[in-house]
Amino acid sequence: MAANADEFGIANRLNEAEYANTLASQFNMLEPENAMKWNPIHPSQDAYNFGPADKLVTFAASHGMRVRGHTLLWHNGNPAWLTNFAKTATPAEMAAVLKSHIDMVMGHYRAQVFAWDVVNEAVSDSATALGTTLRDSIWNNQPGIGGSGTAFIEQAFGWAHEADPTALLFYNDFSIEGGGPKFQAVLTMAKDFVARGVPIHGIGLQMHLNNSGFPSTDALTETMRQITALGLQVHITEMDVRLMLASGTASPADLQLQAQAYQRVLTVCLRNPGCTALQTWGLTDKYSWIPGFFPGFGAALPFDASYQPKIAVAALLDTLRSTPPQLLATSIVNAASYKAGAVAPGELITIFGANYGPGALVGAQLDANGLVASNLAGTQVLFDGVAAPFIYAVSGQVSVVVPYEVAGKQQTVVQYIFNGVKSNTVSIPVAASAPGVFAANATGRGPGLVLNSDYSLNTESAPAAGGSVVQILATGGGAVKGGAANGALAVGAGEQTLAVTVTIGGVNAPVIYAGPAPGLVNGVMQVNAMVPAGLAPGPQPLLITVGGVRSDAGVTIAVK
Ligand code: XIL
Repeated sequence: MAANADEFGIANRLNEAEYANTLASQFNMLEPENAMKWNPIHPSQDAYNFGPADKLVTFAASHGMRVRGHTLLWHNGNPAWLTNFAKTATPAEMAAVLKSHIDMVMGHYRAQVFAWDVVNEAVSDSATALGTTLRDSIWNNQPGIGGSGTAFIEQAFGWAHEADPTALLFYNDFSIEGGGPKFQAVLTMAKDFVARGVPIHGIGLQMHLNNSGFPSTDALTETMRQITALGLQVHITEMDVRLMLASGTASPADLQLQAQAYQRVLTVCLRNPGCTALQTWGLTDKYSWIPGFFPGFGAALPFDASYQPKIAVAALLDTLRSTPPQLLATSIVNAASYKAGAVAPGELITIFGANYGPGALVGAQLDANGLVASNLAGTQVLFDGVAAPFIYAVSGQVSVVVPYEVAGKQQTVVQYIFNGVKSNTVSIPVAASAPGVFAANATGRGPGLVLNSDYSLNTESAPAAGGSVVQILATGGGAVKGGAANGALAVGAGEQTLAVTVTIGGVNAPVIYAGPAPGLVNGVMQVNAMVPAGLAPGPQPLLITVGGVRSDAGVTIAVK
């Protein structure tokens, strides 16, 4: 769960203890409501004001919350200097201003904001499925940044991707969640972008709902299905459910309907693995845009103006408890190679798509016994009931070490648990070995995580000489002679039970050592091998075979 939060234009809400406590304890993601919009962050042509947004980003980091960014291109929220500039500017000048803004703002928050609403509300409310109708704006056509149709949106996504290639890029809009012509227009654009390789990763459904018109479970499910079928994620970005107020209060019946709306949206999101975030537009009725924009309405958020949970909160928590994360066997992969299939005792694996977990990445910790902890920030992965040591955990992706107890079994039953909420179980085959060589950049491909004989990292500019001995880091080597304790740090040398061979450039590289990596957690396999002489200089394929099972092709070692 996530909430937007802001302090632009109002007293510093983060200094209000109840606000800060509710935000930090009840949510694991945060989005500045206004502070990253053009007007506050770029108040004059040559000046940026990052202060307020920085405070929110710092708060998020210190409470393990992820941050969404909002927004880089919108017809609203623009500073007066910009709207004046647009009156006489050429499209080329507008394009230059937009590109430098995107560079500056996304650059400032690179690696801190994981997802951006690059473009907000660009499709008009009268859009039809037949022809995408775009809203008039300084960016589209008044004067616009050049190009016709959705070209201005496409350009913004391209610039955003250049500014932060690691950020997830979203198109965000309202009144599209229930389907209909406007949604079809957004979908048509998204389909075209995906087909042509425009860097877009998701659609944001704002979901400013009211108590009578919220979409049915079927309609919402269908919307999410159509978006995720394109390979895009769904974020619910601005949910609130406004209620008609009589003498300032909402009726008990309306509060029930509101709880139902929140519950329905969360249920549909949890059932669709492509729906990866649910965020409310604020957290407390004390601070909400609704009364100002929809006169007569209010009480739209999960917590009331005194920070007391409304029945919507109980409904949301019930849903979280009863709609478990979905685990798929195909999402359980070797942590080095990302290959799915059988797991081996001691193998470091990564599980994708387990969408419950800490909002920000939590790295491995040692427990009271000096073992790598098998409960990390409330997260556990069980293999036949045995808890696996954790390498890291973040909602959507965790990495653990397969317990050695699976050795000798045909299969093992895996289950993921977060704060007591249990996933389904999946049964996956067990193999004696399932080797994967770590890549230096953790992508499963390219230069391997290999140390030269002088302990420098093997790279094209630091290649290994023929006849020298290199250390290769891998996993999935299976059992170790004499046994290995789950989660223990290897103290010294040992030996793999199964035979280990290495080829470099297709030539046998004699193995001098294959066993635990001293100082690292049991399950990481270190292989010392002698680089064959006479290979062509440059990257050469590196393959490890353990007990007759060979690692995947694609990892290399540089030789000179
Ligand atoms: C709203 C804010 O909540 C207000 O404080 C501000 O005055 C106007 O903008 N869709 C969006 C948000 O994408 O940026 C809007 O936020 C609400 C509608």
